[in-house]
Amino acid sequence: MESVQATKQRFGIIGNDPKLNRAVEKAIQVAPTDISVLVTGESGVGKESIPKIIHSLSHRKHGKYIAVNCGAIPEGTIDSELFGHEKGAFTGATQTRNGYFEVASGGTIFLDEVGELPLTTQVRLLRVLENGEFIKVGSSKVQKTDVRIVAATNVNMFEAIKKGKFREDLYYRLSTVEILLPPLRDRKEDIHLLFRKFASDFATKYKMPTIRLDSDAIILLEKYHWSGNIRQLRNIAEQISVLEQNRTISAITLRGYLPNIGSNLPAVVSADKNESDFSNEREILYKVLFDMKSDLNDLKKLTMELMQSGNTQQVQKDNEGLIQKIYQDKEEDIRFEEPIRQTPSELLEIPSQSTLQPKEEDKYHFAEEIEEEETLSLHDKELELIKKSLERHRGKRKAAAEELGISERTLYRKIKQYDL
Ligand SMILES: Nc1ncnc2c1ncn2[C@@H]1O[C@H](COP(=O)(O)OP(=O)(O)O)[C@@H](O)[C@H]1O
Ligand SMILES: [Mg+2]
Repeated sequence: MESVQATKQRFGIIGNDPKLNRAVEKAIQVAPTDISVLVTGESGVGKESIPKIIHSLSHRKHGKYIAVNCGAIPEGTIDSELFGHEKGAFTGATQTRNGYFEVASGGTIFLDEVGELPLTTQVRLLRVLENGEFIKVGSSKVQKTDVRIVAATNVNMFEAIKKGKFREDLYYRLSTVEILLPPLRDRKEDIHLLFRKFASDFATKYKMPTIRLDSDAIILLEKYHWSGNIRQLRNIAEQISVLEQNRTISAITLRGYLPNIGSNLPAVVSADKNESDFSNEREILYKVLFDMKSDLNDLKKLTMELMQSGNTQQVQKDNEGLIQKIYQDKEEDIRFEEPIRQTPSELLEIPSQSTLQPKEEDKYHFAEEIEEEETLSLHDKELELIKKSLERHRGKRKAAAEELGISERTLYRKIKQYDL
């Protein structure tokens, strides 16, 4: 029997993870039989190489190998694609057509995303699996075929069965042997290995020196969640290979390429943050937004009254509670910002039309505060920008603020916030 190592080499499969090796070994073991195999695993884990291994190591290797993406064929034509149709079976069926199950007789059919098959097609497929029989669309003649079926899915089939989207009997027929490919995050040892392989491939492809990661970047790479698995890793290796001038990649640079790093990478964000902390943070964020909205409504009301009556004193009297609150909030803000001397009556000055528009810097605040919750890389980039600008202007805030395109006051707040 062909060895696992030799098979991996032949099919370009990188990695030494025991779970990966076990999957390849299982494929080798079942190949010579006609047993149906279901390959499971998240998107991008490399499911497509398993049916190829099985076909190539089987007695069917000189027969046809057809891969069908069940999720990509419209429901209306899938039966005809798989099983063929008779002339005149439907409008546009001007000729008899042979389906994949007829064409691939003696070979192997790979049904990718099998969970997407419509229920009616599932009935036809079950019949093929049970006795090798099928009927063309629009025909009444039963035909025979001899195909080996390997299917793959990245959806939880038990869920699909529970929801009535997938037939339980078909599931058991398809999954006589199940081969599970582990997600990349569970193959920590293989991550850097794969990255180096891709980096070297892309260096050749784009005729550039190979990128390499420094030690912190390697740690980050191995801690990342990789929800798109190997496909995502390959994609990021390609982007960095093309876009980065400096061929030694730091963790900060790498971070810029990893989406959702905040929620995907608890370990790097903070030593002991877990899922629930993040949902708490989200709740807090919602609450802040909610409070802001209600403050805004209060202010709108106040502004309207002021504009309508023009009698500052009366409005002030009618809205004592609210004004008190504004003043309090202002006091609290002052602790974080440069003191601004303002009395309650100054606060109540009717704003002119132009100041009613949100100021550029305020818009900037708002956007930035939401973004910060989402991507820490932005936060880091901002910190870096501010630091560099301050260095360039030898600590002169006014010049730095001008260069950064923010107000001096915002810069002052940032300096405090980041403890610069
Ligand atoms: N072990 C591996 N070594 C090298 N490349 C891999 C490996 N596993 C997957 N790939 C590559 O990752 C990409 C996604 O694999 P694919 O089989 O299409 O994933 P799936 O079908 O599970 O979504 C492909 O480009 C494939 O060549
Ligand atoms: Mg696939």
